[in-house]
Amino acid sequence: MDRLANKVALVTGAATGIGLATSRRFIEEGAHVLMTDIDTQAGEAAAKDLGAKARFLAQDVSKEEDWQRAMAAAAEETAGLDILVNNAGILAIGDHQTIEDTDLAHWQAIQKVNVEGVFLGCQAAVKAMKGRGGSIVNISSVAAIIGTPTLAAYGASKAAVRQLTKPVAIHCANKDYGIRCNSVHPDPVRTNMGDELMGMYGGNVDQGWDAIPGRVPLKTPAEPVDIANCILFLASDEARHVTGSELVVDGGMTAI
Ligand SMILES: NC(=O)c1ccc[n+]([C@@H]2O[C@H](COP(=O)([O-])OP(=O)(O)OC[C@H]3O[C@@H](n4cnc5c(N)ncnc54)[C@H](O)[C@@H]3O)[C@@H](O)[C@H]2O)c1
Repeated sequence: MDRLANKVALVTGAATGIGLATSRRFIEEGAHVLMTDIDTQAGEAAAKDLGAKARFLAQDVSKEEDWQRAMAAAAEETAGLDILVNNAGILAIGDHQTIEDTDLAHWQAIQKVNVEGVFLGCQAAVKAMKGRGGSIVNISSVAAIIGTPTLAAYGASKAAVRQLTKPVAIHCANKDYGIRCNSVHPDPVRTNMGDELMGMYGGNVDQGWDAIPGRVPLKTPAEPVDIANCILFLASDEARHVTGSELVVDGGMTAI
């Protein structure tokens, strides 16, 4: 119940899915959570639902000025930021995303949110946590580890998140900032994005989920809380010796 007692966290993309489940678990463990998202309506409703320890702030992670506002909000409301979860992300635009049918505009749109958003978040968090320490958790994907031929831009973006995590971690360790930085790599998770992904394989979302036992050794799809629990570990002081690592949460998918 108190694994994050008195900690202050900022979770991006917190209106739904993994971000919402993470915010909920953080609050259950004693944290105050600044939940941010571009979906203001859903974000405000989610924060209201989670109670007094949650606060919503509209934020587009791909905009530098929005990061400045978010960090100012975290600083003004609390003693300072302890945890950042760079969770916001987008999967695709349209159905087919192979190297042949990905145009430059699509590529850039994906990198803008998934890579530049995480870059800006890491930069803002290092600035805010310097001198007090903290934990940054970047949400990548199994798509950073295995080839995703129908999601070329997405896979590349998640590989960039995986790689960016390590220099942030080592820089902060070299500087003795007390800031840890790790990445998390889920397989398909039952969220809106998970449904979008399943719909891309043959068009029928339910059939996509039904096929998971054939692709994932543990045979069940991940629920948002399964990912949130691993993020919680990395965010907490229990992971004080863990930095620059990649926590694969995939039911064994990449082990075969
Ligand atoms: N669901 C999966 O199968 C899966 C698997 C591996 C990794 N992931 C990663 O986990 C993270 C969360 O995914 P999810 O499944 O919860 O997705 P989701 O689509 O259910 O939720 C993503 C949230 O991010 C918000 N968002 C999108 N663009 C934004 C922006 N520019 N600024 C701020 N917020 C923005 C959306 O409004 C939404 O609330 C993503 O980074 C995703 O790539 C998901």
